[in-house]
Amino acid sequence: MMTMKNKPLFVLIIIFNILITSFAVAQAKVEPETIREKMQWFADAKLGIFIHTGIYSVNGVDESWSFHNKKISHKEYMTQLNGFTLKNYDPVFWADLIKESGAKYAVITTKHHDGVAMYDTKMNGMSILKQTPAKRDMIDPFFKELRKRGLKCGAYFSLIDWSHYDYPGFLRDSARYKIEDDYARWNRFRTFFQGQLAEIDTKFKPDLWWFDGDWEHSAEQWEAEKIRNILMTNNPNTIINSRLQGYGDYETPEQNFPVSRPKSEWWELCMTINDNWGFQHKDLNWKTPYEIITIFADAVSHGGNLLLDIGPKEDGTIPSEQINILKELGAWNKKHGEAIFGTKAGIPQGHFYGPTTISKDSTSLFLFVHGTNSGQLMLKGLDSKISDISVVGSGTKLNHKIVGKISWSKVPGLVYIDLPKQNLISMSLL
Ligand code: GLC
Repeated sequence: MMTMKNKPLFVLIIIFNILITSFAVAQAKVEPETIREKMQWFADAKLGIFIHTGIYSVNGVDESWSFHNKKISHKEYMTQLNGFTLKNYDPVFWADLIKESGAKYAVITTKHHDGVAMYDTKMNGMSILKQTPAKRDMIDPFFKELRKRGLKCGAYFSLIDWSHYDYPGFLRDSARYKIEDDYARWNRFRTFFQGQLAEIDTKFKPDLWWFDGDWEHSAEQWEAEKIRNILMTNNPNTIINSRLQGYGDYETPEQNFPVSRPKSEWWELCMTINDNWGFQHKDLNWKTPYEIITIFADAVSHGGNLLLDIGPKEDGTIPSEQINILKELGAWNKKHGEAIFGTKAGIPQGHFYGPTTISKDSTSLFLFVHGTNSGQLMLKGLDSKISDISVVGSGTKLNHKIVGKISWSKVPGLVYIDLPKQNLISMSLL
């Protein structure tokens, strides 16, 4: 069993009695007020759960890529349609679990690159309703349950559709045709996929669109600008990720842990819970709750969100290891949420060796302390006066000392904070 017991990640809170002036929080380009307003829930959300559900979970192969990269034939890949049952699918449980994790939104695959729609599309016959024993729409009940709990709903949609007869790309080294040679055929595909977007838009009104696969064609070819305009006209508050060839609202680095602060104001790190997006029974390389929480704190400290992916099984159940991780994450958030939610990006690197966040009113600084440190922590370049330091979650007060502050010098001293001893650390455990 994975546990946090041996390796706590605890958080200190430092309350300032004046505003922080020397810490410049990263300022991105000025956006129109309307975009800023619509992005607010996203900026505050910090944590989302990504769900890769699809027929690839039947045999546990790479989602769509397994046939594209010729690990197996397209025919063999498609035999998985027969095994996708969803017989134990419980959207109430899914939504409860996501809520419990502390996430504020979820993003689910409505269609991956394999072209199998997870909802009731009328644009072609390739859906789990028409082709699998599941015979049901997964998205509709799931979004309903999320919304009942005040969670935002994101629709992942792959622009690529490697199974569609009118889509140019198919296998890694072979295409059906070139767009330049057959515009009529490409136009048929555009009508098809844009029809699916219209369906999803009307049926589910996503709060967030998570496009994928834009790299295979240009903005002009996809008609990215037109797509953005249509989606925004129908729902001016909808948020669009960056994978729409330049027509999105925020960046989506993938599996890429932040080393320095990304330039864009809004960004989201999407990351797998083991080494694969979809369920693969052989992949037991689970990240531990501790690893996920440290990555999460790091992303938030750099002003981003974490979109943590889970991959449910073909019967609709979520593997127990994934449930356990989400619950541990939830327990940690419950205790330390003050340092995550309602905060903004922390102080620039160099002041403190670890992730930090700042309360929105800039009167509290949160320091994330990894592992089982004890002794003294050091904080550099702090102009503000400290009124109080305590451990988040337990409230234990901590002493500090200012070293090297000379009365006549403007140079701020170094802050040394006495970390709690082991027994106090254990008070902050889950
Ligand atoms: C990649 C992959 C895809 C996965 C996505 C999630 O773009 O093509 O399989 O769904 O990343 O971010």
